[in-house]
Amino acid sequence: MIRKLVLRWRNPSRYFIIKKVIPEINNKKVLWVGVAKYCVDEVKKLEKNNDVTTLDINSELINFGAKKHIVDDISTTKLDEEFDFIFLLGVLGYGVDLPQIAEKTFRNCYRLLKTNGILIVSVLDVPKRNYIKIRELRNYKLFYPSWMFGLDSGNQIGKTKMEINFLRKK
Ligand SMILES: C[S@@+](CC[C@H](N)C(=O)[O-])C[C@H]1O[C@@H](n2cnc3c(N)ncnc32)[C@H](O)[C@@H]1O
Repeated sequence: MIRKLVLRWRNPSRYFIIKKVIPEINNKKVLWVGVAKYCVDEVKKLEKNNDVTTLDINSELINFGAKKHIVDDISTTKLDEEFDFIFLLGVLGYGVDLPQIAEKTFRNCYRLLKTNGILIVSVLDVPKRNYIKIRELRNYKLFYPSWMFGLDSGNQIGKTKMEINFLRKK
């Protein structure tokens, strides 16, 4: 309980993903891009009711991935599957730092989504993490920003400067 309150206070956007987004996703094919020790619980929670694949460019992070894990680059992967949801949280500004790589990443996410599939992408608006202005990307136009999970796309949650976007494949 205290852990939950601390998380809600220190990282409201992460709390939002855990409490509002993940419980609404069931019987779906999900791609989670970028893994870390702190998101193991989220991936496990998603895996309970969904077919989850994790993907990370760093081969040392395999242990933090889902049962189905791929070592690959989201901007160039040739993965040949289609997903209902792609989570791209904490990847822009944390590896995908150049607009041309972000363009390729958005193009690949578009390709990997089913019709009407959703790309959930976070942008942290703090120095050194905010190189990518997603609305200025050409391939942002491949998606409709959508209202989902009780939140409008592009809203910041709390005071963390973390913006969450829900982008539906056109
Ligand atoms: C800050 S962590 C974010 C982890 C997680 N997605 C989350 O929910 O916060 C960034 C991760 O993205 C991975 N990453 C960075 N660029 C990538 C790329 N082009 N393709 C796949 N993974 C990438 C890094 O290796 C790192 O593990």
